[in-house]
Amino acid sequence: MNTSARKKAHDNLSDQQHKNIAFFSTRSYEHALFSELLETLNGASDKTINATFFEHPLNASTAASCSGFSDVVVFVNDDINRKTIEALKLCGVKHIALRCAGFNNVDVDAAAKAGITVSRVPAYSPETVAEHTIALILTLNRKTHKAYNRVREGNFNLGGLMGFTLHGKTVGVIGTGKIGQAVIRILLGFGCHVLCFDPHPNNDVTTMGAHYVTLNELLEKSVIVTLHCPLNEQSHHIINAKSIDKMPQGVMLINTSRGGLVDDNAIIKGLKSKKIGYLGLDVYERESELFFNDHSQDIIQDDIFQRLTTFPNVLITGHQGFFTLEALEEIAKITVNNIMTGENAL
Ligand code: NAI
Repeated sequence: MNTSARKKAHDNLSDQQHKNIAFFSTRSYEHALFSELLETLNGASDKTINATFFEHPLNASTAASCSGFSDVVVFVNDDINRKTIEALKLCGVKHIALRCAGFNNVDVDAAAKAGITVSRVPAYSPETVAEHTIALILTLNRKTHKAYNRVREGNFNLGGLMGFTLHGKTVGVIGTGKIGQAVIRILLGFGCHVLCFDPHPNNDVTTMGAHYVTLNELLEKSVIVTLHCPLNEQSHHIINAKSIDKMPQGVMLINTSRGGLVDDNAIIKGLKSKKIGYLGLDVYERESELFFNDHSQDIIQDDIFQRLTTFPNVLITGHQGFFTLEALEEIAKITVNNIMTGENAL
């Protein structure tokens, strides 16, 4: 937050006297960043913002604990459905601040009906997620994760490590918003041909040198397909058995957006038939039961997830596309500013 934004936040705060904020699904790295920021904002003496950090998620069963909080700060896997919102209303919560871009986990209509405002962080560092997308593409292609282990064990055999040259290949980008465009810029730098699909085409994309086509043409012609659209009714399972059928044999599929964009059963069939040659995921449809926690000593009950991890050509990361220091600092600043100024309301 720059000096004028901090002053604006402070002016707003003095109108409202006091704020009691509950943070949900918080991990130590976020706790530290938010605490430091709020301390600076509060100043040395007159503490006007109180923050309580919970590790557990906000959902219908935990919402009753929000009594006395004016604002709640939530993340990607908190479940802000109608029941959660009704409980928040009874507790007197006035504002839900998402510390992320996507808002598919919030019943926005129910919040409006309850008179609770909702804000999000629409853009903090699109390049951060774009770079992780490229990391998945490069790792799957050149198999550096496997080479790392081989070399450490004294095995310098190259068998099975052969990749393909990205230069000159056709890559399909579904969703050309902030992150999609950052991905396109990098891919064009590699010398790829970029085909795009978005119901709202953007001139900047064509100026950069990418081409809008129909979804079918993108699926038919791209050797890599990467998803950068939000999850909504139209995009749910946009990658399904039919769309996989249209893709070329051995296609690489990358999803760093939301798990619900892909039908996992169709993906598994595609991997078994070798239609999908590479799969890179940073998100998973039922990730809320797994991601952001250590389950290394548990028996994981999600058989679909477990099956996905058995393929040699699948690389899964646990929703870490956003996870750089720069992005986290930006998320913290914008979230606090949203709470204080009412900006970025849905
Ligand atoms: P954005 O709002 O800037 O762009 C989304 C684009 O998708 C828009 O151009 C929109 O017209 C397009 N779109 C909407 N429906 C579509 C459809 N059915 N097919 C194709 N395109 C469609 O959003 P931004 O910032 O680029 O983020 C994209 C997504 O990335 C977010 O919705 C979120 O789910 C995900 N994300 C993932 C993160 C991670 O850590 N893995 C971090 C941040 C965002």
